[in-house]
Amino acid sequence: MADERLIVALDFHRFGDVKNLVNALGDSVNFYKVGMELFYSVGTIAVDWLKTQNKKIFLDLKLHDIPNTVAGGLCSLMNLGADILNVHAAGGYTMMKTAADKLRAEADAAGIVKPKLIAITVLTSINQAEWCGALKISEQVVQFAKTAKAAGLDGVVASPQEAAVIREACGKDFLIVTPGIRPAGSSIDDQSRISTPAAAIKNGANYLVVGRPIRAAENPRDAAEKILAEIEGI
Ligand code: C5P
Repeated sequence: MADERLIVALDFHRFGDVKNLVNALGDSVNFYKVGMELFYSVGTIAVDWLKTQNKKIFLDLKLHDIPNTVAGGLCSLMNLGADILNVHAAGGYTMMKTAADKLRAEADAAGIVKPKLIAITVLTSINQAEWCGALKISEQVVQFAKTAKAAGLDGVVASPQEAAVIREACGKDFLIVTPGIRPAGSSIDDQSRISTPAAAIKNGANYLVVGRPIRAAENPRDAAEKILAEIEGI
């Protein structure tokens, strides 16, 4: 059974590339992230195929609109069978609460397990120099996380650098999903607030989202297995 703390980001626009990577990773990876590049390109095909392969799916479409629109959008996405859906915390308490309440009610009415609903805090690509908020980034992240929890969400997406303060503020059952993962020595790309896989887990992350360090590796399976060994060693 693959360690489901590793979620591999399928940032492709061709379905053939998805199949190649998922087949190459085989039983070492069980959880995948479908984001806007893939979803906008191939629609539901990739999600449907991943389900036939018994893979878990984080559908990372980062909804951000008025409460009624986001809640309705999430209910449509729930029918695709993803395990995790998300919204932007910047959409506010009412947007998140409306979304969480409606998703729960629709899941109950349909007799299905509600997907986890998590909120994007501050993107991991943003650094302090670029940030123009009134609070420090870490303070804003914690405030977003507390608001998401109060609104009934299951967790947040945040930088691994903020995982520890979120865990302290929101408790042990709150999910923390961290992109911005870079094994020692790998390229940072457009990310800023990064950490190694081991540090992210030590700081309290439940799931690590990893894209380029695996996708762009000469041998993606080796790269994934090294990350898995690192997190299993904690
Ligand atoms: O290639 P890399 O490992 O940087 O990919 C990270 C993935 O996580 C991307 O798909 C990106 O969209 C996503 N993500 C992120 N930061 C967030 C939320 C999602 O990097 N705050």
